[in-house]
Amino acid sequence: MGLPFIGELLTFLWYFKIVGQPDEFIESKRRRYGDGVGMYRTYLFGSPAIIGCSPEFNKFVFQSHDLFPVKWPTIELFGHNSLAGVSGKPHTRLRTYVSNAINKPDALRKVCKLVQPHIVSSLRSWADKGKVKALDEVKKVTFENIGNMFVSFKPGPMFDVLDKLIVALVEGVRAQPLKIPGTAYYHAFQCRKKLAAVFREELEKRKRTSNLVSEKKSDLMEGLMNMTDEEGKLLSDEEVLDNIVTLVIAAYDSTALAITMALYYIAKSPHVLKRLRVVDETIRMANVNPFTFRYAKDDVNYQGFKIPKNWQIMLWIRYLHTDPKNFDDPMNFNPDRWDVPAKPGTYQVFGGGARICPGSMLAKMQIAIFIHHLVIGYKWELKNPNAKIMYLPNPKPVDGVEISFSTL
Ligand code: HEM
Repeated sequence: MGLPFIGELLTFLWYFKIVGQPDEFIESKRRRYGDGVGMYRTYLFGSPAIIGCSPEFNKFVFQSHDLFPVKWPTIELFGHNSLAGVSGKPHTRLRTYVSNAINKPDALRKVCKLVQPHIVSSLRSWADKGKVKALDEVKKVTFENIGNMFVSFKPGPMFDVLDKLIVALVEGVRAQPLKIPGTAYYHAFQCRKKLAAVFREELEKRKRTSNLVSEKKSDLMEGLMNMTDEEGKLLSDEEVLDNIVTLVIAAYDSTALAITMALYYIAKSPHVLKRLRVVDETIRMANVNPFTFRYAKDDVNYQGFKIPKNWQIMLWIRYLHTDPKNFDDPMNFNPDRWDVPAKPGTYQVFGGGARICPGSMLAKMQIAIFIHHLVIGYKWELKNPNAKIMYLPNPKPVDGVEISFSTL
């Protein structure tokens, strides 16, 4: 389980940050201890933990949400009242609202109308420039779309400030939760306070002008402000703020990264454009969300092994997608593989059970719109096809995917 206090943190950083082979973290355990029942003991992110890395074990945890409630070590960054932090009835109520607002066909149609023109005009501007850093450009478009959909924020100087705050916050989400000045987590925590202050100002403004029809917005924030429970009670300001912060972080970074990685993989394997399953394959390989967290509410027995009460469970979903037992030649970007369905339980890109990602359709739709407009109008080439991939805080090529870009 590693060294006292820090546990296996150094080994984790070695594989993720120094040698750039994140899957070796699990492979090395597998070589040492065998496959077992698909779980290993460790000490990471400030707690003794069980790592789950088999379809069967992960499914068991995802489906037994009473035994294994959610517990993100860095929940303070999302907010304790957020969808990712609450359980039971409050969770079901918020999830139903958020899923209806962003993940259902009607909502997606509206979103499509809103984001499509913006994607089209952005791609045109990339071609005018001739050479762009894809990650920066995709982030800009995605952030403007999310800002518009969720809080009706329009591009302007405030956008750049918000962008920096969110980037720092995301870096903290996968950091060791140590509130010590100088650490990524501490910095993220300070940025979270500033971000919440910006949203609070917007919330107060909306409350002041709530009786003016001209000021009415039809975005996610307005929806959360007007959402009631069965007793007709509104969410508190803190609940609205924690959820807006969470939804913006969750939607922005993951979607922008997945779109950028689609551009990257397609540039490396242009023949795949004849294939329709580029979105699924990109999300499998990009692993923008490599693991998710639960904890054991009680001692739990799994196939003869004890999971001690209060231990953290890290479901290492990334490993399922890079394990050759689950996907042939897993590091090869091959949309053809989807001609045959994946083996049951091996594709867990959006997590599972009662907490499965509520933004999955929203993300897939944005990636698909982007790819559609890219391939019908443009060609692009990687400037540095052999750029190293970094894996923390998120997997991406170190050059931010520099490309030359022009119309067809
Ligand atoms: C490619 C893009 C995305 C990926 C790969 C992704 C992946 C995930 C994963 C793995 C989880 C954890 C699920 C679990 O613990 O079982 C999650 C949760 C979540 N995601 Fe996403 N996500 C993406 C995009 C989005 C978008 C666009 C939103 C917008 C709202 C979003 C909102 C959330 C929220 C709020 C949760 C917490 C849900 C809960 O605890 O009930 N995600 N996501």
